[in-house]
Amino acid sequence: MEGFEQYIEALISLHIGLERQGPGDPDFSDFIINQLPELPANPAIADIGCGAGAGALILARKFHSKVKAVDFSKVFLDQMMRRAAQEGLQDLIEPIECDMGKLDWQPGSIDLLWSEGAAYNISFEGALKAWRPFLAANGVAVISEMNYFSNKVPDVVAQYMKHAYPGIKTESENNDLINSSGFKVVAVHRLPSIAWWDNYYDPLRENIAALKDTADDVMQAVINDTEEEMNLFRAYQDDYGYSYYIMCAV
Ligand SMILES: C[S@@+](CC[C@H](N)C(=O)[O-])C[C@H]1O[C@@H](n2cnc3c(N)ncnc32)[C@H](O)[C@@H]1O
Repeated sequence: MEGFEQYIEALISLHIGLERQGPGDPDFSDFIINQLPELPANPAIADIGCGAGAGALILARKFHSKVKAVDFSKVFLDQMMRRAAQEGLQDLIEPIECDMGKLDWQPGSIDLLWSEGAAYNISFEGALKAWRPFLAANGVAVISEMNYFSNKVPDVVAQYMKHAYPGIKTESENNDLINSSGFKVVAVHRLPSIAWWDNYYDPLRENIAALKDTADDVMQAVINDTEEEMNLFRAYQDDYGYSYYIMCAV
């Protein structure tokens, strides 16, 4: 367990200072937001697994409404609040240091639930189950999930995922999961693979270059795993990636 905690600490250190801690893109987020079903005025918003606030800041800017931003890393939450203060958005964002699977919010209290690149931490299915009760009547959720784009999964990818993400499913399986978890899929959009590189992997590579020479064994293991992940994605980015599921509570 101690080794696992050290690994997570090193993983967080590797991501410090980055605008995003996972794949995403502000223009793509705008595109998604512009397609959402109608929301009430001043919607109650949550960004779960918010990291340093990539989504929370966009949502606060766009809706001028309160955003509950949840992450278990205080380092990322602090970074988010510094960025929010620079834009005068600090009063709209409530940082919540908490396990995303143990939220104790009022049922029916959230109009728009947003989660990018984070639900897998409690499994996509687990996240749908845990978060559905928080949705208001006609509430909307946008959850991104890394999945296969078809049933035809190259062997090398399947082998890698056995240890990296054993719970990974196909887009079609995830659609079914959503529709049987008290939601209805409204639309599904795939994050273009270029966004992985431009907004996530390229900045991450700069952090790797800066840390590589002084990395201890744990950090070196995190760097090796991250480079393996990037190499796989470079070769197989047409076979898997993030799908953004827009869904409404039913
Ligand atoms: C891949 S990052 C995505 C961050 C952000 N949404 C983004 O797109 O930049 C996943 C985030 O989930 C957080 N996280 C992982 N497990 C968590 C848990 N059980 N509870 C709360 N946050 C968690 C991590 O600290 C990290 O910030």
